[in-house]
Amino acid sequence: MNKGDIHIDAGLRPKFLKDYIGQRKVREQIKLFIEASKRKGELLDHVLISGPPGLGKTTLAQIIANELGRNIIFTSGPILEKKGDLAGILSSLEEGDILFIDEIHRLNPSVEEALYPAIEEFRLDIVIGKGSSSRTVSISLPKFTLIGATTRAGMLTSPLLSRFGIVLNMDYYDEDSLKQIIKRSAVIIGIEISDDAAYEIAKRSRGTPRNANRLLKRVHDYAVVNGRETIDKDTAVKALTFLGIDEDGLDTTDRKYLDVLINKFNCRPVGLNTISSALSESKNTIEEIIEPYLLRKGYIQKTHKGRIPTEKAVKKFEK
Ligand code: ADE
Repeated sequence: MNKGDIHIDAGLRPKFLKDYIGQRKVREQIKLFIEASKRKGELLDHVLISGPPGLGKTTLAQIIANELGRNIIFTSGPILEKKGDLAGILSSLEEGDILFIDEIHRLNPSVEEALYPAIEEFRLDIVIGKGSSSRTVSISLPKFTLIGATTRAGMLTSPLLSRFGIVLNMDYYDEDSLKQIIKRSAVIIGIEISDDAAYEIAKRSRGTPRNANRLLKRVHDYAVVNGRETIDKDTAVKALTFLGIDEDGLDTTDRKYLDVLINKFNCRPVGLNTISSALSESKNTIEEIIEPYLLRKGYIQKTHKGRIPTEKAVKKFEK
C-alpha cells in the first residue's frame, strides 16, 4: 500500500505524553495538571497553549484529550465568524468534552464575548427578537474544557487571557530533541538513518518538528533516488544542499529576504509592506514564519523605522 505524506504525518504525531519528546517544562506541567484533575475527579481547567507555528500545539491538545480519555472537537478563531457558529458548536458538546479553538487570538469580538459566560459558568446567552421586544434567554451547557491555541499570546485580550487557568508556553525545540524526533519518525516510516545524519537535519529544522519531519521525508526521497539504503551524514548534507537549505537552516526564501535588505535597499530600514511585495509573500507569513527565525539567528533587526540586516547577514552574503 502506498501511504501518502498526509497519512504519514498523522502517524508521526505522538498520541500520549510518554511518546512526547522535548518541551520538558510544558510536559511536566500538563502531566501534573492531568493527574490532579483525575485524582480530584474534576474537569481539567481551561488551557491556553501559546507558541510559534509548527511546534505541535494541536498535537498537544490531542494528547491531553487522549490522556484524559475525552472527546475533542476542533475549530478555529477565524471559522467562528458569528455568535451562531459558536452556539452551534457549544450546543453539540457533551459533558467532559474538550473544545479546541486554534488561533484563538483571531476570534471576532462578539464571538469572544459570547464565549465568556460559556467558559465561566457553562451558560450560553441568546438574544431573541430585535429592538425593544428583544430578550435574553440563557441555556445551560454541559461542563467542558476549552483548549485555546495561539501564536500571538500578546494579541489576546486580557479578559480572555484571565479566563484560562492553565497557560502552557511552548518554545522552539532544541537540536537534541529534534534529533530524537527525527529518529522516532524514521523508525515509524521505516527509514534507516545514522545519528549524525539525524543531527544534521535537526540543525536545519528551524526549531520545529514540522520542519524536521518534512526534511526527513525529502532527504529520504533523495536517498531513495540516489540508491542509498541508509541515510548517513554525507547523504543528508548532499540532500539538504540539493534542497537549498544551508547549514543554518536558511532556505531560498530567507536568502531572498536578506538579499532584498542588503542589495536592493542597501541595508537601509525596510517596512513590512515593501518586503511583502518584493517577496510576494503575505505579511502574516513574513511575520510569523520567516522573520522569527532570522531574528533568532541574528540575521536581522527590527527597528521603529523598519527591518535592517545585521553584520552577520552582510558577511554571509560576502562569502
Ligand atoms: N512528532 C512531532 N512532534 C513530536 C514530539 N514533540 N515528540 C515526538 N514526536 C513528535
